[in-house]
Amino acid sequence: MLTKIAVLKQEIEAFSASTRDDVEQFRVRYLGRKGVLPALFKAFRTVPVHEKKQFGQELNALKNLLEDKVNRLKEELADCGDSPAKGVDMTLPPEMQALGSRHPISIVQNEITDIFCKAGFKVADGPEIEDDWHQFSALNFPPEHPARDMQDTFFVDKGAHEMLLRAHTSTVQVRVMESQSPPIRSLMPGRVYRNETVSARANCFFHQVEGLYIDKGVSFADLKQLLLYFAREMFGKKSDIRMRPSYFPFTEPSAEVDVSCYICNQKGCNVCKHTGYLEIMGCGMVDPNVLENCGIDPKVYSGYAFGMGVDRIAMLKYNVNDLRVFFDNDVRFLKQFTSA
Ligand code: PHE
Repeated sequence: MLTKIAVLKQEIEAFSASTRDDVEQFRVRYLGRKGVLPALFKAFRTVPVHEKKQFGQELNALKNLLEDKVNRLKEELADCGDSPAKGVDMTLPPEMQALGSRHPISIVQNEITDIFCKAGFKVADGPEIEDDWHQFSALNFPPEHPARDMQDTFFVDKGAHEMLLRAHTSTVQVRVMESQSPPIRSLMPGRVYRNETVSARANCFFHQVEGLYIDKGVSFADLKQLLLYFAREMFGKKSDIRMRPSYFPFTEPSAEVDVSCYICNQKGCNVCKHTGYLEIMGCGMVDPNVLENCGIDPKVYSGYAFGMGVDRIAMLKYNVNDLRVFFDNDVRFLKQFTSA
């Protein structure tokens, strides 16, 4: 029996494994319930008493050797993964995980901001829950003035400090003017809220990109040139713009901007309702009262501002005729859009 143990020791020491399966087979062969070691322990019971001590020591040494060997092999192979299962073709490409795509509104918003950033504008951010000053008063909407109803505002708290959900990102224009001194060339993308009945053309929230430029000697001609540049970058090189007089409390003069219909090239189609033009934004020269409210001297500085609805431009760009599909979160719709 002693020689048998000596042979086993050699066998065990010489053993090497290349997969975890090999180690497991080795363990079962020697240490498993019907393995070599339990059989030796069984045989040990019949060993004459005076030999028990020596055999016992040898057997225990063998057991320790085996356990050490198994543990070491397991550790060595721990990082190697399992052996390839039989019948699996390892050269096949892996199953691809579905990747998300950017939301179409984000794609269009990024496109708009990129165009203005190329012209030197910097993005500014502000809170969505605002106070009366930033939404109305600073922007030349006096208290009780009917112009406050131009946008159906959601009020959050009607208490002493009336708070509301911003109905335009002009709120951020005020914040920028209050905290910076001219020259200012700022862009305000963001979500805005209005108490509108949800329909194919209106939602209770939507997205805007507004812009503000303030410096010495800024004129309406500068504004027109910038917006023409924007229209050509956004809707194609052949695009043209036209301006119609309009009214906003915070700009004077004010205008509504239309871009020539890029779908029919002004020949007239359903999208432009046969007018050849698509309305895309409001703009104007910042009212001197607004500059003064924000601590900028209107005798020294002048500026222009503009604002557009991202959702509306996305509808035009992707030829989507119901605004609601952008927010239904139906992945079959959303995954059609990839950013350029
Ligand atoms: N704030 C206006 C709106 O939400 C858009 C606008 C911005 C108009 C700047 C003129 C100048 O409708």
